[in-house]
Amino acid sequence: MLTEDQTCNVHMLTEEEKYNLLKNVIDDYDRKESNLIQILHMAQAIFGFLPAEVQSFIADEMELSVSKINSVLTFYSFFSTKPKGEYTISVCLGTACYVRGGKEVLNRLKDELGIDVGETTDDRKYSLTVMRCIGSCGLAPAMTINGKVYKQVNPNRIKRILGMLK
Ligand code: FES
Repeated sequence: MLTEDQTCNVHMLTEEEKYNLLKNVIDDYDRKESNLIQILHMAQAIFGFLPAEVQSFIADEMELSVSKINSVLTFYSFFSTKPKGEYTISVCLGTACYVRGGKEVLNRLKDELGIDVGETTDDRKYSLTVMRCIGSCGLAPAMTINGKVYKQVNPNRIKRILGMLK
C-alpha cells in the first residue's frame, strides 16, 4: 500500500521508481482482477494519468488483456489517459444541477477554454470533466475546481472565476 509520504512525493520519483511502486501496489492487491479499479486508481495517483505504457504494464503484471484495462478506463470518467491540466474543472450534471443550469455552465466553460469535456488546454492549464451529484443539490448548479466546490454557479461568473485562478 502507498504510504502518505509516498503519495505526497510521487512527482519526485523516476519513471523506474514509479513502475516499481506500481508493481508493489499490484502485489498488495494480490494481482486480482476484482481489485483492478483500486489498482488503476493507485496507478493514476502515481503517474498522474494512465497512458498506454502504464496500461500495458498493468495488463502484463495482472495477466489481463490491454482491452480489458481499456474498457474499465473508458467506462469510468474519473480515469484519464491523457495528462491533466493544472486545474481540473468538473461540472456536475446530476439531475438537480442539470435542470438548474449545469449545461449552460458547461457550455460557457467550453467556450471560455476552447476545449470539450475530457480535454485539456494546449498550455496544460485546464482540464474539463463532468460528474454526477456531489451532494450540493440544494445549491445547484455546482462544479469543482481541483476538488473545491463552487455552488450556485452563474454562467456569467465563469470568466471571473477562471480569472481568479491565474
Ligand atoms: S445534482 Fe449536482 S450536486 Fe446534486
